[in-house]
Amino acid sequence: ETSRAAGPAKPDLDDIINLDDFEKAAEQTLSKKAWAYIHGASNDNITRDANQHMYKRIWLRPAVMRDISVVDTSCELFGCRLSMPVYISPTGAVRMAGPEGEVGQAKAAATAGIIQCMSTPASYPHDEILAATKDQAFFQLYVNKNRAESEKLIRQVTSSGLVKAIFVTVDCPVISKREDDERVKADEKTGTTLTPASRVSAGKKDKKGSGLTRQNSNFIDSTLNWNDIAWLRSITNLPIVVKGIQRWEDAVMAMKWKCDGIVISNHGGRAADTSPPSILVLMEIQKHCPQVFRSMKVLTDGGIRRGSDVVKALCLGASAVGIGRPFMYAVGYGQEGVEHLASILQEEIKVAMQLCGITNLAREASPSYVNTADLD
Ligand code: FNR
Repeated sequence: ETSRAAGPAKPDLDDIINLDDFEKAAEQTLSKKAWAYIHGASNDNITRDANQHMYKRIWLRPAVMRDISVVDTSCELFGCRLSMPVYISPTGAVRMAGPEGEVGQAKAAATAGIIQCMSTPASYPHDEILAATKDQAFFQLYVNKNRAESEKLIRQVTSSGLVKAIFVTVDCPVISKREDDERVKADEKTGTTLTPASRVSAGKKDKKGSGLTRQNSNFIDSTLNWNDIAWLRSITNLPIVVKGIQRWEDAVMAMKWKCDGIVISNHGGRAADTSPPSILVLMEIQKHCPQVFRSMKVLTDGGIRRGSDVVKALCLGASAVGIGRPFMYAVGYGQEGVEHLASILQEEIKVAMQLCGITNLAREASPSYVNTADLD
């Protein structure tokens, strides 16, 4: 169990009414180490926080007097039908957030009609996660220095037929400086660590999580470059999505290399700190190379915490959005928690659409529903 008997009581799931509540519950109940790993980003965590804050600086432009009694939040993405344009961003070591880990997320995604992007450094074997997945999943790839390993992994996860797209993560060619993690390690050494929540777990080694960053840095191929899209194409016919685009020029590169999609992402602020908030990059692409939206699926993640954030991203051109940390915090409540999160989000998206006069999000979302003047 990741919840601590001696720590503050965990709120009832029924009392969790928005995504931030999941974060607060996690902060109270996770070990310091798990909290630092999940909540932390790189250096000063500036990009992590800006991802979220920037959505608050975009205003909605509600259209009124429309019949919004029936609305459709669903969408299609790489041949998958989704109840809303949301997927679970790939996050490694989900078991650090709760024992059900990726398996709980996979089951909940299937119930909620969304999709989970399974990460390379998952804390459950990939075939176990896929077995819990009803009929659709994405797979996130960190390219291994030993390419044969990556080829094997891709073949292994795609043989199930459940994986509908490969997301290749490109924003962490080296491991960034994770100071929150370092501080916990330093505190552990001196024995000055513990919040009430983590006291009980002191001494218990979280094997799945420890050394994760190191493990990543050891196997990720830092020679990766655009030519490798051709290599990837030679091993799989699935849609290839480049995850970690942070400037419009690279969106154009992905288009030139005939990728099927991009994720505008800064790894939730865990890659280059002070890299721009994702939504600004989305706007930059709108401005400099709108043709990108016609030739590829443009996805984004980072800081999305409200249904209205989802609506804003779609209005600015995204086809769907990924959500990372909240789906980890929700695993603290197991599958049920993840389902609860999805239903909160579904309701928030629906109401945001209704309040804005949008009845079909996939078809009608457009920049006319947002005012970005604060960001110009
Ligand atoms: C991540 N992210 C990530 N990305 C990836 O491509 N492979 C991975 O293994 C991981 N692992 C990971 C672990 C944890 C704990 C976090 C918080 C994030 C990044 C993730 O896919 C996504 O880009 C961000 O989480 C999105 O930002 P938000 O929603 O967390 O603000």
